[in-house]
Amino acid sequence: MERLFLTTAIDYANARPHLGHAYEKVLTDALARFARRRGEDVRFLSGLDEHGQKVQQSAGKAGKSPQEFVDDISVHFLGLWRDLRVEPDDYLRTTEVRHKKLVQEVLSLLYEKGDIIRGTFQGFYSVRAEQFLTEKERLPDGSWPEIYGEVVELTEENYFFKLSKYQDWLRELLQKQPSLIFPEFRSKEVLGALEKPLPDLCISRPKARLAWGIPLPFDETQVTYVWFDALLNYVTGAGSGQGRIGEWSPAVHVIGKDILVPAHGIYWPCMLKALGLPLFKKLLVHGFWTRKSEKLSKSTGNIVDPRELAEKYGADSFRYYVLREMALGHDADFDEESLAARRKGELAHELGNLLQRAGSMIGRYRDGKIPAAAQPDAMSEAFRATVLGALKKWDELMQKYQIHLALGELWKGVQAGNQMIEARAPWKLAKDPAKSAELDATLADAMAVLELVLEEVECVIPRTASAGLIQLGLPGKVTRRPADWPQWPAHQAGRVLGSIEPLFPLLEDEKPKSS
Ligand code: MSP
Repeated sequence: MERLFLTTAIDYANARPHLGHAYEKVLTDALARFARRRGEDVRFLSGLDEHGQKVQQSAGKAGKSPQEFVDDISVHFLGLWRDLRVEPDDYLRTTEVRHKKLVQEVLSLLYEKGDIIRGTFQGFYSVRAEQFLTEKERLPDGSWPEIYGEVVELTEENYFFKLSKYQDWLRELLQKQPSLIFPEFRSKEVLGALEKPLPDLCISRPKARLAWGIPLPFDETQVTYVWFDALLNYVTGAGSGQGRIGEWSPAVHVIGKDILVPAHGIYWPCMLKALGLPLFKKLLVHGFWTRKSEKLSKSTGNIVDPRELAEKYGADSFRYYVLREMALGHDADFDEESLAARRKGELAHELGNLLQRAGSMIGRYRDGKIPAAAQPDAMSEAFRATVLGALKKWDELMQKYQIHLALGELWKGVQAGNQMIEARAPWKLAKDPAKSAELDATLADAMAVLELVLEEVECVIPRTASAGLIQLGLPGKVTRRPADWPQWPAHQAGRVLGSIEPLFPLLEDEKPKSS
């Protein structure tokens, strides 16, 4: 069995979850479910990034201790994952003991190896923002933006990780294997950043300035820089949770484009190399959601609350919308109307109606039992070929991470089902006893396409798929594909359907107004 260790970025616990967080977790959850369906042995890890300046500041503003603050925030994240049916095997919070132990073990090991050294750090420090500023933040006239208040030049004793030692190795590796990063064009961004000599990475902060972090085991006056701590979540969360380095197994990391360079594209491979651990299998880099083409931002009020959307439209409609709308790796613009339209069209009208119509006709004409299909006629042969072809394309595209296109292919199967019913008009066939075999075949074929599609689309719309399968008289739990997948379902004749209910009921504002 192939093993897949799949991770998400761990979200900063300095504010509540937003659309970007929700998309990434839904995406990873769908990939995990899909891989399980294909028979892979999957471990899905997610979590929260709870240390660092931002958290310390937000906690201060809220009048809470940092630990109290992140405990409260974690409730919002965990609640959202429950609502959205994002179900990781492990959810790691970086304030957990197992993680602190691992980070300290790594620090000691790299210090002893000489890959972490003491040095001085000199830079421009904003007293108001309590952070060092980089040249990027400087205005064209050489001054610093207002928001930073007084900016002073400061020198600090700190510890550094010898990134420079691994630069040539990393450059060669990425030149040889650009497919380590998906989409491949992103590997150029990392290579670009590797053109100039890399400065060593400052991995500690004096406790006096930042108390909220993991102390260095060899210098208690310092705490670990948040990225160094955060990236190691992948090692802590890789195995049995005992906080030992040896548990690492190479992962597919799902991340957003903003944390590729330098964190995941440079720091992380160099850290793995320094630790003597194998590289990750892949960085799967998704794009950013915008709204009205603008950045999502709390300060401008341009925000999207995923929990509200899931409540209004249902978690599965939200999941379907984000995965159908965004081409993985590229940006997309969020539009609530388009979410509502996809729910009403593709989900309720196309998928939901197919089950509703065919299921009720089986109730009406065949006593709620799936009839045995006669020898397929030409129309049925063509229909089955279309559906099986669509399934194969779905599978190929999913494996290439083209989820939005894969869903389009799967829906060709659903659409073919509806067209077949229109063309055969079972309500007419039912009136003619001579057409009884054709009626059987029509209804059986409709049940078959639904079974095939629902089993696959479970990774995207888990609750609906399972409810739909129960209506088809099957267990609601999706299992791994049989070895001969995709095959036309052979054993459905005689199965009693469950009670047929709309999969996507009308929303309040879609219901006809009664006077
Ligand atoms: N804590 C770090 C990640 C550490 S991973 C070892 C972090 N946290 S974050 O909360 O800022 O972002 C978490 C994830 O959400 C990142 O992958 C980020 O790219 C993603 N997104 C944040 N805003 C986003 C959008 N507007 N759209 C899509 N994803 C976005 O970075």
